Amino acid sequence: LKEVSVNPAQGITYPIYLADSWPDDSQFITSRLKNTGKIFIITQKGLEDLVLRDFLKFMPVDSEDIIYIEQGEKNKHIRQLPEVYNRLIERGADRHSVILALGGGVVGDFAGFTAATLLRGIRFVQLPSTLLSAVDSSVGGKVAVNADLGKNMIGAFHHPEFVYFNSSLLRTLPDREWNCGLAEMVKHSFMDSESLSLIEQHSETLREYNSPGLLSAIEASVKFKSSVVSQDEKETGLRSVLNLGHTAGHAIESFTEYKRFSHGEAISRGLVTALLLSVEKAGLSGKDADKMISLLVKLKLPVDTAGITASDIITHMKYDKKNKDGETRFVLLSAPFTPVYGQPVDDATFIRIWEKQKLMFG
Ligand SMILES: NC(=O)c1ccc[n+]([C@@H]2O[C@H](COP(=O)([O-])OP(=O)(O)OC[C@H]3O[C@@H](n4cnc5c(N)ncnc54)[C@H](O)[C@@H]3O)[C@@H](O)[C@H]2O)c1
Repeated sequence: LKEVSVNPAQGITYPIYLADSWPDDSQFITSRLKNTGKIFIITQKGLEDLVLRDFLKFMPVDSEDIIYIEQGEKNKHIRQLPEVYNRLIERGADRHSVILALGGGVVGDFAGFTAATLLRGIRFVQLPSTLLSAVDSSVGGKVAVNADLGKNMIGAFHHPEFVYFNSSLLRTLPDREWNCGLAEMVKHSFMDSESLSLIEQHSETLREYNSPGLLSAIEASVKFKSSVVSQDEKETGLRSVLNLGHTAGHAIESFTEYKRFSHGEAISRGLVTALLLSVEKAGLSGKDADKMISLLVKLKLPVDTAGITASDIITHMKYDKKNKDGETRFVLLSAPFTPVYGQPVDDATFIRIWEKQKLMFG
């Protein structure tokens, strides 16, 4: 069992446990939950056999205290909250209760926001079951639901008591969901040498849930994100480096109405854009950029522009809530492992770089 400690603010420290075997760990989770009030699980329809059953073997929770949200990002919505609050209150939730968030990032964000707001904040535990939720959404305390006019518009910072991830849950994870987690891991690795060397070393087998290198690469990724969050919990500056690849990536997702690509497939393309822009604007060498792009290719993540025009992307980048004064800002790299954030890029430069990416990769 690996343990990474997160210290996001003075007086707040919690562990992230990373495991790859069940029997010993199960004891361990139950013992951590011994001195708590009532335990609730918030999970997702469709995960009963894939994920929930494994946990219920050693953690008996009354079926009435298991709350299911529907599949999909559209159900991480503020309109789903009243029913869940009512159910928790009806079933006797109080300040000592604990909500276990069991699922991917949709469940983690939704259950975390529920825990942050019920009774002004109750305890919660993240039990991520996708690669993305293990390396990204369960780390850092951001919890949120969507509003009609935007994703993650209603949110809070609410840290879990602990995070527990077991890589054997990934045995059923579909390929496209692996893309989501791997794209974020590669993003971290462009800013963290330990992550990069582990991903490079194990690139051939990284998509196998029981491969020897996977858990070490996940650990390095979680450590990197934790260290960034520990330096800037509320994203007043440094934490925004975690948006590397996301400016163009989010625009690709919103232009294609979140239907054509998974999040990771958009972010992977956006990472290439950010690397090419880094060469043009921030001093990254072309050789280093090529090396990083080839890692994405090696991991079978897409790097092309998907037939999308620069002007479509520019229009959608302008909506990004992280922009300042209508100017599109990027996270770039001035060298490997050296991100610089808040970098303005004018439209003419963006168009040139997007055309370059199209010429190189289609
Ligand atoms: N809070 C943060 O800091 C943060 C960071 C990044 C992303 N997010 C959020 O995370 C969400 C995306 O998370 P995600 O990529 O995990 O998507 P997701 O939660 O929708 O999960 C993807 C799919 O995998 C299924 N699934 C989950 N575990 C499985 C398993 N073990 N085997 C088979 N299928 C499984 C889910 O039911 C779902 O259909 C978005 O809402 C995003 O906004 C939050």
